[in-house]
Amino acid sequence: MVKHLISILDVEDKIRDLLDLALEIKEKTRIGERYAPMEGQTLGMIFEKPSTRTRLSFEVGAVQLGAQAIYMSRNDLQMGRGETISDTSRVMSRYLDIIMYRAFDHCNVIKLAENSTVPVINALDDLEHPCQALADLLTIYEKKIRFEDLKLAYLGDGNNVCNSLLLASAAVGLDISIATPPNHGPNEKIIKEAMRMAERTHAEINIINSPREAIMNADIIYTDTWVSMGDESETCDRISTFTPYQVNGDMAALADEEYIFMHCLPAHRGQEVTDSVMDSNNSVVFDQAENRLHIQKAIMVYLLGLVDL
Ligand code: CP
Ligand code: NVA
Repeated sequence: MVKHLISILDVEDKIRDLLDLALEIKEKTRIGERYAPMEGQTLGMIFEKPSTRTRLSFEVGAVQLGAQAIYMSRNDLQMGRGETISDTSRVMSRYLDIIMYRAFDHCNVIKLAENSTVPVINALDDLEHPCQALADLLTIYEKKIRFEDLKLAYLGDGNNVCNSLLLASAAVGLDISIATPPNHGPNEKIIKEAMRMAERTHAEINIINSPREAIMNADIIYTDTWVSMGDESETCDRISTFTPYQVNGDMAALADEEYIFMHCLPAHRGQEVTDSVMDSNNSVVFDQAENRLHIQKAIMVYLLGLVDL
């Protein structure tokens, strides 16, 4: 059966193995050891939205693994003129070995995968950003050496990044407190799935409205933009609704002294986070961005069946 990564749920039992594989691959890259199991293969990358990290890390990752990558903007494809996702997927499967898709609509990522004979990776949609959450876990593991007895506080919008982070935390037993304004919480189905996993892993999950309560004694502070791609028409309202959730020096002072600050980037400095936190010694945002490269190499190698996990 073809393996896909559409949701964190697709790899919930494989996360620790994927992290170990990513660490191994990262070390090989660091010491300059060639690791090219995708020699002769091709990654197709479909983008409906802009990207800096995802595009670069997938493209560089594919090249480092011996493959080549092809960038496709939706508007340059016949998909942009109405060719169906399922026909597009069937055609692409005949040329490509693996496909990465950044979409507006989660259903379209599922449709692409359902009709594909090669692995499909969700590179962000309106519901999830699984590659980001796996890179985040890798970063937390490197910085804190464990997931147990740690508290992650997520402040801001219960968006795609928050949904995947919630699932990923629940899967590895990392306690998570999410503070959002009312009506901006994470997806209800995702919360249910996270609760189900937490029964097994004993992760403590708190979904609340008080940012101060969430951040109290946190080991990890995480935030993301208040205005995700596609939400631009709500910008003014969102900025006023979310202002109490800004991660600034006063807010961060409530966390554990050795907290790390995380953000998937791009950051909107002065909105969800201030320069004082973003540029502090506690901030690990650029290590986190780098880890997109290493975890995605592990994800591709795993989905293609080039390693047994
Ligand atoms: N974090 C992230 O996915 O960044 P890009 O939008 O730049 O890809
Ligand atoms: N939540 C953000 C993440 C960007 C990487 C968005 O969807 O725009």
